[in-house]
Amino acid sequence: MAFTLNVNGAPHVIEPGEGEEDIPLLYVLRDHLRLNGAKYGCGVGQCGACTVLRDGAPVRSCLVPAASLQGREVTTLEGLRAPEGTLHALQKAFLAEQAGQCAYCIPGMILSAAGLLRQKRSPTEADIRTALDANLCRCGSHNRIVRAVQRAAAELAE
Ligand code: FES
Ligand code: FES
Repeated sequence: MAFTLNVNGAPHVIEPGEGEEDIPLLYVLRDHLRLNGAKYGCGVGQCGACTVLRDGAPVRSCLVPAASLQGREVTTLEGLRAPEGTLHALQKAFLAEQAGQCAYCIPGMILSAAGLLRQKRSPTEADIRTALDANLCRCGSHNRIVRAVQRAAAELAE
C-alpha cells in the first residue's frame, strides 16, 4: 500500500512493490528516491553507515520500516545543505579536516554528529566519542572525525 514519506522537507509518495510492505527506509531512500548519501554497510544495525535523522534524532535506516515513518521528518546527508546549496558546518568541517579516507562511513558519522549537535551545542570530546561510538570506521579516521565535529561545533557556536 502506498504511503507518504517526508524527506528533507518534501513529501514523497512511495509505492512498495509486491512483498515489500516492510521495506526498510534505507532501500526507499536509495532505490526509490535516489538519495545515495545513506550507505549500506552491514544491513543489521551494527555499523552506522546508513544513519539518517528521524525528527532530528539518529536512526539506523536499514532497520526502520519506511512505512512506519508517516508523519515523521527524515533528514539525509543531502538535506543538511541549505536550500541554496551551502554546505552544513559539519560537511565543511569534515572536508577541512580531511576526515574521510574511503569516506564510506562519513555520511553516517555526519548524521550522528548532527543529532548530537542538535542536543548539545558545545559537546565535549567525550560526548562526541560517545555519540559516534557505534559508527564504525574501518579506515581508522576516528581522530580526524572527532576534530571535524569539534570544528563544526565551534563554528555553529559563533
Ligand atoms: S547498514 Fe545499517 S547499521 Fe550497518
Ligand atoms: S573513512 Fe573509510 S570507513 Fe571511515
